[in-house]
Amino acid sequence: MDILTLNIRDRELNPIPFFIAPALHDQWQRWLQVYPYRIDQIFWIVDATVNQLHSKILEYYQENTEKTELVVLFPAGEPYKSRRFRDILEDVLLNARINRHSLIIIVGGGTLGDLAGFVAATIHRGIRYVFFPTTLLAQVDSCLGGKVAINHPQGKNLLGTFHYPTAVFIRTRFLRTLPWAEWVNGLAEVIKYALLFDVQLLTVLKKYYREIRARDSVWVQRIIRRSLHWKKWVVEHDPDERWYRASLNFGHTVGHALERYFNYTISHGAAILIGMAVELLLSQRLCSCPGYLLKELQTLLERYPEPSVLQLLNADPDELWRWMQYDKKSDDEVRCSLLHTIGDPCLYEPVSQSQFLYAWESLQNLPLVLDQFDPQSADLSGD
Ligand SMILES: NC(=O)c1ccc[n+]([C@@H]2O[C@H](COP(=O)([O-])OP(=O)(O)OC[C@H]3O[C@@H](n4cnc5c(N)ncnc54)[C@H](O)[C@@H]3O)[C@@H](O)[C@H]2O)c1
Repeated sequence: MDILTLNIRDRELNPIPFFIAPALHDQWQRWLQVYPYRIDQIFWIVDATVNQLHSKILEYYQENTEKTELVVLFPAGEPYKSRRFRDILEDVLLNARINRHSLIIIVGGGTLGDLAGFVAATIHRGIRYVFFPTTLLAQVDSCLGGKVAINHPQGKNLLGTFHYPTAVFIRTRFLRTLPWAEWVNGLAEVIKYALLFDVQLLTVLKKYYREIRARDSVWVQRIIRRSLHWKKWVVEHDPDERWYRASLNFGHTVGHALERYFNYTISHGAAILIGMAVELLLSQRLCSCPGYLLKELQTLLERYPEPSVLQLLNADPDELWRWMQYDKKSDDEVRCSLLHTIGDPCLYEPVSQSQFLYAWESLQNLPLVLDQFDPQSADLSGD
């Protein structure tokens, strides 16, 4: 088992532990036994899909957790990260008499983590919560950093705050049931950390792609630990998101424009992967980034094949540019987080329309031959 400690303090000034292992029940019990605060009741908020797929183990956890008061099964996905569903969750918890000494346990991916974390932040002016992330994206990224939010009709994550969990339990066995497209959503973030910071992680992704595709627990645990290590490093250096944390937007300015262009009907991971390819081309032009990094990304796109990446290349670049101008991180100019090279980001770089169009056109000449790989028939049993 890996244990990572985030030196951002929760409100009682305790560092936050992150436990990472295929199974974590014993660790969970031990953690609860030494939990230093009063607990009146425990409220589980569980992604309904995860509950269905992992019902036995979740029942086991709940039956062995004293003070379990209520298990709330909740739908997950972007449409539920809304004011309406926040109201529903708040009503359920308040009707069950949640109080300041209750503990919330969230079991789910990034959307439920964001929604239920936001409710935990505001109900009774903030109560403690524990997160069991169940998607790769949540395990490598959204579980660390304390950002919680819901969407508003005017945009994603417009209502939010920072509220750190008291502990995070990353049980990698949850990932066995994750559909391939969801897997790629998380993998895109892992690839981002590799390109931004970590030559070794890049090598692991290239060399052990068969094991990672088959969700071999040793390699999955390793890529999760490395990704969290880098996110932790960034968050500890820039907890209020004033400066260096912007590096994590690498690939996201173009990626978000692609998502909007396709009206959020495409895979988020595919959009970020193509976003990183365009932003690497921009990095070559504007930040003297060496060309081999794009070749590395090309290899990874081929070895972790997500067919929808090819569809994205048909987008109209002029319209994409318009969406890039709407990006909430831009003021007058479009600015991207690019790269000088691995370990050396090039923050808030202004990008002109002609530079973007040139990069987009260059992308069309990138030969992409995706590996023949059928995720449906992959053997996910070896753990
Ligand atoms: N707070 C942050 O710092 C942060 C960072 C990145 C992304 N996010 C947010 O994360 C959200 C996306 O999260 P996500 O990609 O985890 O999506 P998600 O939570 O919607 O989960 C995707 C789908 O997978 C299902 N699922 C979850 N775990 C599963 C499992 N183990 N097996 C099978 N199916 C499973 C869910 O029911 C859902 O249908 C976005 O709203 C984004 O804004 C937040």
